[in-house]
Amino acid sequence: MRKLILPFLLFVAAITAQAQILRSPNGLVSLEFKMTTEGTPTYSLRFKDKVIVRDSRLGFELKDQPQLTSRFRILRSETSETNEVWKPVWGEVAAIRNQYRQYAITLQQKLDGSTPGRQIIVRFRLFNDGIGFRYEFPEQDQLKEFSVTDEKTEINLTGDHKAFWIPGDYDTNEYRYSTTKLSGINALNASKADEIGTRSPFADNAVQTPLMLKTADGVYINIHEAALLNYPAMYLVIDPKNFSAVTHLAPSRDGTKAVLHTPSVTPWRTIIVSDDARQILASKTILNLNEPSKIADTSWIKPQKFVGVWWEMHIGTGTWNYADVADTSLTGTDWRSLKPNGKHAANTANVKRYIDFAAKNNIQGVLVEGWNIGWEDWYGKMKEQVFDFVTPYPDFDVQELRKYAASKGVKLIMHHETSASVENYDRRVDDAFKFMKANGYDAVKTGYVGRILPKGEFHDGQWMVNHYTRIAGKAAAMQIMIDAHEPVRPTGLHRTYPNWMASEAARGNEFNAWSIGNPPEHETILPFTRLMGGPMDYTPGIFQIKLDKYGRKEQVHTTLAKQLALYVTMYSPLQMAADLPENYEKYSDAFQFIRDVPTDWDDSAYLEAEPGDHLTIARHAKGKDEWYLGAITDENGRTSAAPLAFLSRGKKYVATIYGDAIDAHWEKNPQAYKIESFIVDASTALRLSLAPGGGAAVSIKPASPSDMKKYKNYK
Ligand code: NOJ
Ligand code: CA
Repeated sequence: MRKLILPFLLFVAAITAQAQILRSPNGLVSLEFKMTTEGTPTYSLRFKDKVIVRDSRLGFELKDQPQLTSRFRILRSETSETNEVWKPVWGEVAAIRNQYRQYAITLQQKLDGSTPGRQIIVRFRLFNDGIGFRYEFPEQDQLKEFSVTDEKTEINLTGDHKAFWIPGDYDTNEYRYSTTKLSGINALNASKADEIGTRSPFADNAVQTPLMLKTADGVYINIHEAALLNYPAMYLVIDPKNFSAVTHLAPSRDGTKAVLHTPSVTPWRTIIVSDDARQILASKTILNLNEPSKIADTSWIKPQKFVGVWWEMHIGTGTWNYADVADTSLTGTDWRSLKPNGKHAANTANVKRYIDFAAKNNIQGVLVEGWNIGWEDWYGKMKEQVFDFVTPYPDFDVQELRKYAASKGVKLIMHHETSASVENYDRRVDDAFKFMKANGYDAVKTGYVGRILPKGEFHDGQWMVNHYTRIAGKAAAMQIMIDAHEPVRPTGLHRTYPNWMASEAARGNEFNAWSIGNPPEHETILPFTRLMGGPMDYTPGIFQIKLDKYGRKEQVHTTLAKQLALYVTMYSPLQMAADLPENYEKYSDAFQFIRDVPTDWDDSAYLEAEPGDHLTIARHAKGKDEWYLGAITDENGRTSAAPLAFLSRGKKYVATIYGDAIDAHWEKNPQAYKIESFIVDASTALRLSLAPGGGAAVSIKPASPSDMKKYKNYK
């Protein structure tokens, strides 16, 4: 591992009220820090000498204590530089450069002459593609335990930028994106238009992060946070008149936002900037701002593909519940006496069918939902004791399946739907994890559907943020990998907890099964928004796109080839092949791409990108000279230009293109695809024609002598 750390103290400045300017290592990003005459700290940000963030104030409001917003003076400021390379356990690239200039300003607040005053530190890190900054509360007599009632961090923008946003909502991120000017944000309307699930929006003009912006002169700005620990999630409330934004935090049950003890730190507020949208996707700033892995031995963490007893419940051909009875309760019910409904999907024979399919098709895992008692009492009942996570339904034979999966070299993936009854889960999780390990499971999909119990806590509040991290830590200690559904959106914590491999935390493919769904542009926005914080369990790979076959009016808003491309464009180390085995068997030639595609990469090349329109990404398989390319588009057809300059010079490869057929269309003809193979090399430029709502997936493997005879050169 190449590792070069250069932390050195550039200067310790004298006490000054003068503006201080710091530049990123390449000089393109610069920050100015100033104190107002009232003693309020402010910063502004430039990219290539264009103002990106105007003077913006920093500070906090506290409960029953003087505010931390003014009457500060600079006590000390220190600058240092870091330039190192680290290796993620898994990811889009094998090595990540962490290069920044740091600026730590200690501020002292004097409320009256007699007391020593309270101190906070504002720490800025300037990377070549943006900044992170956080607040630190050092240990001190004047500030011990305190309640934050609001964080007052401003991010004052310079114009009515184009924004890709979802409503500020304390409980969910499962929204379609709106694309408007900043002045056109109306969160409550957007929330009303999506009448599904748990909704807790709070203001007309509040949005969630990652917020993706584009200025009129073509600068891309991404605002989010990194290392969200022991603190609520941050939203932005936009002033539609002057385009200023101020942070708003998800509340706790008691109405405050965060209870902190010194010493403590806030998450990093991140602003990533580029005039090239591809550089936003390539940014590693959020990951770099997270702490290194807490897990010493990571050999058990395995990126993988999985299938699951899952889509059949979403399209309604199977059920999670075993019996069609209403309102039983977990305690006191003899489940052996219940009459099965005949549609319970998690039965031993059906699970074996998925295990067989996985074993034959280079799929490592099989998720089984609905295996455990409690689903009769699940959705909407707000019951505290729904699941115990250790008792199977009578038709799910744990021992038999443990043996069967092991004999086929396949791993079963556990499912813990907590139904948001989180204290119940906290009480039971140790036993649940022990049960998993005893029965051969080493990955779990958790879920938090519904309003959080105890009442008053929100999915994005400090209490829940601590819950998710606690579960990640407990799982790490037991060598368990996690895929969390309905958690707070990720902030790069997969660097620190590489066993917390994926989260949902956005509107996944499942919405296409039972709602108005996700428009074709959805997957062209997610990489610029939700995925900036970490991998998403989007559940791609639906081949039976129109669901009329199952008596439903819904359809996935895609072509079949686009579903393949998502395995490349939507990075996740846990990647589901979400459709039913019979649909894959029917289109077995197209399924070859899913059989082949890896979930862990040495390198990624971002070839084309425009949020909301299209993107093309190529990735190099980990430890193997194979490349996989995905190109996707929104509702507009287009031709993607993909130069293969990343290939090894002078070497010949076979490119197999899984593309939209000439007459493909997401609505009119979604399953029309064609597969062609050609000889290519580093001088080849592919032209991929993408149908409206379509895409293309390409595998590129070294050509054998027989391939050279069999396939034509690409022209
Ligand atoms: C919502 C999750 O996103 C979905 O994947 C799961 O099947 C259901 N909850 C049931 O837990
Ligand atoms: Ca969900």
